[in-house]
Amino acid sequence: MLNLQLPTDPRWVGIAEMQIEDILVDHAYCEQKAASSCISLIIRYNDLDELVDTLTPIVAEEWGHFERVMEQLRKRGMRFGKQRKDEYVAKLYDLVRKGGSRKDQLTEGLLMNALIEARSCERFKLLSKNIEDEELRKFYYELMISEAGHYVTFIDLARKYQDPEKVNKRWKEWLEFEAEVMKNMELRGDRMH
Ligand SMILES: [Fe+2]
Ligand SMILES: [Fe+2]
Repeated sequence: MLNLQLPTDPRWVGIAEMQIEDILVDHAYCEQKAASSCISLIIRYNDLDELVDTLTPIVAEEWGHFERVMEQLRKRGMRFGKQRKDEYVAKLYDLVRKGGSRKDQLTEGLLMNALIEARSCERFKLLSKNIEDEELRKFYYELMISEAGHYVTFIDLARKYQDPEKVNKRWKEWLEFEAEVMKNMELRGDRMH
């Protein structure tokens, strides 16, 4: 369903589990960035009613996720550390097509968001199936469902505001780029991506 071209290295979940504090901190920032990115889209495309009305509740949802990750950190006596450099997202940004029409730019933004949701969803699924901590397993299962919904929402919005065939073609390219990015990233257990 997620269409990702390269599954996560199965070793990732084991090393992530050993660094769960780093994962939770990184995850909190992922939720913050998801909320921020929706806010940016709303401001930039204020004239697109359906986009504004669809993304507004998602901002609240992502911020709710942030709050819940913080709760998991706090109850484990863990510290909310500094934000790390997000190499994965930085590499995806490099692939965003510069220029083009405003509509083309919107497609790029929505597809990039969809991709990050898809990869997060895949990783949450791995955590929900494989880690020992039962509470976190449930937590990640719930978030996996929620991010899968966002993934679909971003793709649907892209197809609403742009020729769907064009979106599908570009989506395939994005999926290939992302697999390439993933392939070249160092396997680390201290980050969600
Ligand atoms: Fe989220
Ligand atoms: Fe999301």
